[in-house]
Amino acid sequence: MIDLKELISKKLESQDIGLSYEEIYNLIEIPPQDDMGDYSFPCFTLAKTMRKNPAMIAEDLAKSIDLDEFERIENVNAYLNFFVDRTFFENEVLGEILEKKHDYGRRDIGKCKTIVIDFSSVNIAKPFHIGHIRSTVIGDALRNIHKFLGYDVVATNYIGDYGTQFGTMIAAYRLWGDRDTINSDPINELLKLYVRYNTEAEDNEAMKDDARAAFRDLENGDEEAVSLWKWFKEISLQEFEKVYGMLDIKFDNYNGESFHSQFMPPVLEELKEKNLLEESEGSLIVNLRDYDLTPAIIVKSNGSSAYITRDIATAIYRKNTYDFDENLYVVASQQNLHFKQLRKILELMGYDFYKDCIHIPFGMVSLKDATMSTRKGQVVFLEDVLNKAIDKTKAIMEDRNSDIENIDETSRIVGIGAVKFNELYNSRIKDYVFDWDELLNFDGETGPYVQYTYARAKSVLRKADFKEGEGLNFARISSDEEFSLVKSLDSFTDAVVRAKEKYEPSIIARSICDIAQNFNRFYNTSQIMVDDEELKTERLYLTYATSLVIKEGLALLGIKTVEKM
Ligand code: ARG
Repeated sequence: MIDLKELISKKLESQDIGLSYEEIYNLIEIPPQDDMGDYSFPCFTLAKTMRKNPAMIAEDLAKSIDLDEFERIENVNAYLNFFVDRTFFENEVLGEILEKKHDYGRRDIGKCKTIVIDFSSVNIAKPFHIGHIRSTVIGDALRNIHKFLGYDVVATNYIGDYGTQFGTMIAAYRLWGDRDTINSDPINELLKLYVRYNTEAEDNEAMKDDARAAFRDLENGDEEAVSLWKWFKEISLQEFEKVYGMLDIKFDNYNGESFHSQFMPPVLEELKEKNLLEESEGSLIVNLRDYDLTPAIIVKSNGSSAYITRDIATAIYRKNTYDFDENLYVVASQQNLHFKQLRKILELMGYDFYKDCIHIPFGMVSLKDATMSTRKGQVVFLEDVLNKAIDKTKAIMEDRNSDIENIDETSRIVGIGAVKFNELYNSRIKDYVFDWDELLNFDGETGPYVQYTYARAKSVLRKADFKEGEGLNFARISSDEEFSLVKSLDSFTDAVVRAKEKYEPSIIARSICDIAQNFNRFYNTSQIMVDDEELKTERLYLTYATSLVIKEGLALLGIKTVEKM
């Protein structure tokens, strides 16, 4: 497909303006307003190379450049504004969409490259709560985007199934546990035990010691401790699977902390050999003072391993196993320090791939009325949030009196889509407040709005009995609304690549929201079913192309579409 920026750069290069092709390309801007053209080139830097007043340079260039693909080229002061020929541009963009369909925007830039994405990574025996939504949904979108761009992706759920908290669980079970009670409502009952233990141990050193001792039992392979832990894990995973099923998210593996702990002993040896370990108050640490980082505790004073120790072993294991080009950690920004330490330690160990271990942080989600902490026990289960989203969507749709055949299935897709879109619309680093009214607003920048736009487009096509033909020429659609819509469809391909480069699915969410808004503007200003058959056909094709791109965009975000709503 033609790249107009490239074209403009070539045109300007041939005018001998004293800049290289790259310099020209990088100077080209997209003007803030449509009446300033589709592309703009500021001539200020040319004052030096051409020794003339920049406004005069712009004026001369506007006259001397061949138009070809452009309708006109004008100058406003020192800016050279390019107005693309609409018919030409629409044929290019729509032709490409209609040819590639759901592969529109697909690239092979990731060919022969492997990328590991560590996301969701929930902790067993703890609730899968609303706080986990971000890593889960952002990670899944990043997986889809990378696959779309040709990467081999390993989606890994690094479940937290190891560490001192399991000592707490085991100690609590030893004191108050009852198998039947737990089996009746696993996560809630385990949570109750965990919370009770933490509360009572708050000022009880003996209980804290018991918890640490229980974790040591687990690490030493004590039969009772191991079998309890296995059971906690099994019942927790069953619960998590329900939520992943609702979200329609799958992983290539669940290799978590316990799986990788088998690779810790050689790592400890290596750290020792490389003279990186120091003793400090009974524990073994890597001192990172020279790098302005707090020391990383590798082995705790009671002999237990630590979170970071497992992460070091895991990174090395992943490199050996997958030979990744990138190893992404989609984890809250609260763990910034942890990942800085991890990278630095890998670097000090001499592993060059430390550079490819990339933390993808994100901000906090909070509810207006509740906290998300599991320690205190006030927790909002993600499963409940999803069910509520489905119920609320159903109520809204019943209210709107829509003629949907399968309202339950539709509410499920739209409701869960709303939760996901809400996560993905804002740039990930921002903290945000989870607000039902905002997320389910059918007229806002939301999932339901985009899904509704898709369904609207499909309904137009159904009513018109639209069938794809051949030999199209988009000569009639040239209104500002139609052209803006085509421009937003064109931007989609770029958005996909930028989303990957910045690890930012919100770029795609915003792009499809923009497409939806442009489509609705077009729909409201231009009648589609006009008498002029050719105009009607072109408008139907525009509608069809829009539906294809919205569907693909949502799919990249892990969101499904419905044909009617
Ligand atoms: N389970 C951890 C938590 O809930 C997140 C794990 C992230 N991944 C990692 N390799 N450290 O905080």
